[in-house]
Amino acid sequence: EGERPLTGRTALVTAGPTHEPVDPVRYIANRSSGTQGYAIAAALAAAGADVTLVSGPTTLPDPPGVRTVRVETAREMLAACMACLPCDIAVCTAAVADWHVVPAAQKIKKTTPDAVPTLQLLPNPDILATLSQPSPTRPRLVVGFAAETEQVADHARAKRLRKGCDWIVANDVSPATGIMGGTENEVMLIDATGCEHWPRLDKAEVAHRLVARIATFLHTPPNT
Ligand code: C5P
Repeated sequence: EGERPLTGRTALVTAGPTHEPVDPVRYIANRSSGTQGYAIAAALAAAGADVTLVSGPTTLPDPPGVRTVRVETAREMLAACMACLPCDIAVCTAAVADWHVVPAAQKIKKTTPDAVPTLQLLPNPDILATLSQPSPTRPRLVVGFAAETEQVADHARAKRLRKGCDWIVANDVSPATGIMGGTENEVMLIDATGCEHWPRLDKAEVAHRLVARIATFLHTPPNT
């Protein structure tokens, strides 16, 4: 309590990209650095929560005081998350690949310069939507992220409903903002009642404020 308002709570955070192998040496990935998710995991731990960080491949060190589980693919990330249930809080910041391919057993060879391989993309599980589904083990609070490049609030509100999560932290990741891979973030927090715009802040400060909001939410009895 007080200084460590999440003492006794359990939390799951997903972070980073996923890598979807194409063959033994190639993969499909994205530019997520994991910075915001690692900062949230660290802030939850600093607030006293028992935190599991399920991370895709990143160059970041494990946050102090956090159980870090490293995974590669979206399907591995989902399995690692399900193994964390039940928990009180889930925050999904990972930039999960939307698709995977069935990887070739051997390195795909160039044959003639004109012959290009065709990759058949298959859907990946939606981890946030899965964690949000009504279930006896659903976390009490599920928070998703929405990286958008236009109509940020509208798209994020729609995403909140589609995914079934409680809150969405939305941000504009247009290249000009420098947010993707940068140290700062400018977000909107969207819940069932509305939308709150936060100023541009260091990602650690965004994490700190989000954790303060989570603590307030968990200390407020339902139906008040
Ligand atoms: O659908 P979209 O990728 O825009 O949704 C972003 C939110 O959903 C993020 O919270 C992200 O971590 C989560 N997500 C997920 N599993 C996926 C795709 C997205 O958990 N396969």
